Amino acid sequence: MKIAIGSDHGGYALKQLIKEHLANKGIEVEDFGTDSEASCDYPEFAEVVGEAVAENKYEKGILICGTGIGISIAANKIPGVRCALVGDCFSAKATRQHNDTNVLALGGRVTGPGLALEIVDIWLGTEFEGDRHQRRIDKITGIEKKYCK
Ligand code: RB5
Repeated sequence: MKIAIGSDHGGYALKQLIKEHLANKGIEVEDFGTDSEASCDYPEFAEVVGEAVAENKYEKGILICGTGIGISIAANKIPGVRCALVGDCFSAKATRQHNDTNVLALGGRVTGPGLALEIVDIWLGTEFEGDRHQRRIDKITGIEKKYCK
């Protein structure tokens, strides 16, 4: 599995932890920046990671900003990206099973490191359930097609 990861300054510290955690599990991770805690703009990282996932260059993406909110809003503007901001284990599992999310957003100033790593593991390890959920995703894609021209 190849994972694309990106953050702004508010998510930088958590991104470093996640990269180390995934490397220890033998999961390949490509870091799209930022590379320090200097102030920067989260949409830039949402764009490059989101595009890499939408173009199927990476199976999944992980995005982190201070709250996870801005970076998830930006990522969801890219057709083909289904990004969920997650702060609990139940949602980490459900958003894979039901929404087939391909990008996970986390809040580096909101979710502590232990919980964040657990969320990452659950999210990466849970399969999409398909069936009625595919019908609903097809409806989301329909909205995307209607407005993203
Ligand atoms: C940056 O200060 C902060 O606004 C950003 O990391 C994020 O929380 C935006 O949603």
